[in-house]
Amino acid sequence: MSELATVILAAGKGTRMKSQMIKVLHKLVGKPMLQHLVNTAVKLNSTKTIMVVGYQSELVQKTIQGENLAYADQIEQNGTGHAVLQAKDLLRDFQGDTLVLVGDAPLLTEETLQNLINVHQQYRADATILTTHLENPYGYGRIIRDEDGTFLKIVEQFDLTGEEVEIDEINTGIYIFNNQKLFRALEQITPDNNKGEYYLTDVFAILLRDGAKVELVETLDADETIGINDRVRLARAEKILRQRINERLMREGVTIIDPTVTYIDEGVDIGQDTIIYPFTFIEGKTSIGKNVVIGSHCRIKDCKIGDDVDITSSVVLESEIKDRVKIGPYAHIRPGNLICEDAKVGDFVELKKTTVGVGSKVPHLSYVGDATLGEGCNIGAGTITANYDGENKYPTILGNGVFIGSNSTLVAPVKLEDGARSGAGSVVTKDVDKGETVVGVPARKFEKKKKN
Ligand code: UD1
Ligand code: MG
Repeated sequence: MSELATVILAAGKGTRMKSQMIKVLHKLVGKPMLQHLVNTAVKLNSTKTIMVVGYQSELVQKTIQGENLAYADQIEQNGTGHAVLQAKDLLRDFQGDTLVLVGDAPLLTEETLQNLINVHQQYRADATILTTHLENPYGYGRIIRDEDGTFLKIVEQFDLTGEEVEIDEINTGIYIFNNQKLFRALEQITPDNNKGEYYLTDVFAILLRDGAKVELVETLDADETIGINDRVRLARAEKILRQRINERLMREGVTIIDPTVTYIDEGVDIGQDTIIYPFTFIEGKTSIGKNVVIGSHCRIKDCKIGDDVDITSSVVLESEIKDRVKIGPYAHIRPGNLICEDAKVGDFVELKKTTVGVGSKVPHLSYVGDATLGEGCNIGAGTITANYDGENKYPTILGNGVFIGSNSTLVAPVKLEDGARSGAGSVVTKDVDKGETVVGVPARKFEKKKKN
């Protein structure tokens, strides 16, 4: 097997996207289009991946990450052939094969590309083109063959003549080349066409003329090769990718009640026998354990969730949720929380940068921020941690078994020791000792009246 390099063309603006941001940075299943291609190149063991950039190149380089990734600038976008030529300096001495991908076709699977590479190498070809048949081939370059079906050339839409218009076998824009022969042929292309551009597709006729061997590989899954030109195609691509993710998860043992309305990003891990109800979004770097019930109507982003957890109709962000926790309905778990085993965060509760200890409960209508709750605490309905004085944020610390009466305000910084209690409606401005009860506004020590 010869060594593999990959060139990804990503210099164009993508005008039809009608966006301030370059087309190829628009996201699919949570990742920029280009990131999908770079990840695929890594999986294919590409030892050099060169991205040709132009429009918003700084933003592209800042956003995309990958192994063996280098960039080549294309200052003026003079066509796909001109774009590949910009990688020449970086590939001058490369003796292997070079895979060429376009930035706006991120649905290609590793399997399809691996098949293209295998055919190319088995047939010892100098260039191999990935083609497909389309019902509506308008806009694509067409594959021209002779009467025997032997490949002759690619002709672009605007350069088609006569019966060529009827051809429905199209160039997907994905190819693999013998690297040295590619660059030799590229030196010879001219902008002699209706668009006045240097077409990469012209190298094939040159290669054939020089006696090189050009093979075609047809893919039956035309969906994989769709080029994303506008937001209509973007949504279509998103749907295809989501379906792939959901089907993989279901095969791995996750129940998804209705996969057409369940939105899970690539890279999310979900354990067996977990059930996902409809209208749920699971995003970013999230892992979910076994036997969990999620949804409906949840948004979960960048979370680590244990086993046997139950989350209903809630937003849960950048937090760690341990086993057997119950959340919701209608909780807002903002970033930075640790919710320990068997704890409960119920309806209309907002949590921020808070640790909820084992078995503690914040069942309803509370704001708890910058707080640490020990084990077995109970926070009454309507409790607020007043953690912000307009300038700084302060902590609230509760020991184990603390009981907070309904509608209490805990004015931070404040500490309530193990077993401390506050009466309903109290405003706690001072620390409360172990086992002590405080009541009123501001809260003071509660003395039980002695019975005569
Ligand atoms: C190209 C092919 C066409 C094929 C189609 C598949 C050529 C001449 N035509 O046409 O045969 O059917 O893809 O989708 O190659 N780019 C640059 N610099 C440039 C021009 C383009 O980096 O100067 C990049 C674009 O950002 C894009 C990719 O190359 O990611 C393809 O360019 P595009 O203009 O979309 O080519 P098509 O007209 O679609
Ligand atoms: Mg295109």
